[in-house]
Amino acid sequence: MRHTNSTSTIVRVLLVAFPLAGAMASALAQGTALERGRYLVTTILACGNCHTPKDGEGRAIAGKELAGGGVGFDIPPYAGFAANITPDRETGIGAWSDAEIKRAITHGERPERGPLAGKPLGAPMAANFFKAILPGDLDAIVVYLRSLPPVRNALPVPVYRAPVQREAFAVADRGFTDADMQDKARRGAYLATIGHCLECHTPLDKGVVLLDTALGAGGRPFLPSFVKGLPESWKGSVSRNLTAHPERGLGAWSDAEIKRAITQGVGRDGRRMQEPMPYAWYAGLRDDDLDAIVAYLRTLPPQAR
Ligand code: HEC
Ligand code: HEC
Repeated sequence: MRHTNSTSTIVRVLLVAFPLAGAMASALAQGTALERGRYLVTTILACGNCHTPKDGEGRAIAGKELAGGGVGFDIPPYAGFAANITPDRETGIGAWSDAEIKRAITHGERPERGPLAGKPLGAPMAANFFKAILPGDLDAIVVYLRSLPPVRNALPVPVYRAPVQREAFAVADRGFTDADMQDKARRGAYLATIGHCLECHTPLDKGVVLLDTALGAGGRPFLPSFVKGLPESWKGSVSRNLTAHPERGLGAWSDAEIKRAITQGVGRDGRRMQEPMPYAWYAGLRDDDLDAIVAYLRTLPPQAR
């Protein structure tokens, strides 16, 4: 009798303990995913550089994180604003499934419903770089986006004047794996890709980023005369050569100088650098990740442009 009793107690304890342990483990995993998602979105991905509304000085407005309209574009093929990606169900992405959010980020595709059903997202949304995001990181990003306070902010419907040419960026996916994260320069390459550093730092030819022939050579102008709607602070800015070239690139810079430029927006000569490079977001990068990015930049073949 006693024996049976204690067995049933054990059984009961196990029945209670196991689901609890399971719930705790998944809560822990969820917490870790939330932290990872927050880290990626608020540092290297700098989604807010486009998606968060800014004050007159170009600073992100508190409480409006990713509420949309931070940047508007008016380029020949497309006019529209970076969307509201908070969980508001009507004006944000609260009603989208995880799979739909992931497809928008990595493929630039909208859900198959609503007035813009199936229309690709405008080219400024850097989906072909985000395509390289590892599945675990993508899950974490969605967990973080869902944790944001929903903000009601309706934006004008975008206008597509020509088909979206996303293939221009198609070569950016470099086939990263989780194992790459253990290798410093490879992790740096991953971070620089998903952070689309080289989208900005590689020249364009007829809308195509020359990733294969001029990777990291810089010289891309921001706010060329045909682009309307971008913030004043982006005006006249031209991206720099990040390759290992000793004069034109970063070949002669120390690691500390490169890291200061990335996180503080201060040039080698002490000059305050211009936007749209998202220094304020990169300020939150962990030092080991910054070292990885620098290690990767050192591998870029010198470009004399
Ligand atoms: C260079 C600017 C830019 C950056 C950086 C950027 N986006 Fe976007 N994003 C846009 C624009 C512009 C649109 C709207 C495109 C359209 O209307 O066709 C958009 C649309 C979206 C949409 C679709 C929402 C909707 O309602 O249409 C999602 C989801 C999204 N972005 C997520 C992200 C995430 C997550 C990041 C960071 C990983 C990010 N974006 C970084 C410019 C950007
Ligand atoms: C949205 C476009 C954009 C993105 C994204 C971007 N940059 Fe930049 N970056 C610029 C521009 C423009 C400048 C030049 C600013 C100036 O000269 O005032 C610059 C300057 C720099 C400089 C200073 C170089 C010099 O010679 O003065 C470094 C280093 C740099 N970027 C590295 C990076 C890295 C690494 C990343 C990714 C983690 C990155 N950038 C992402 C646009 C960008």
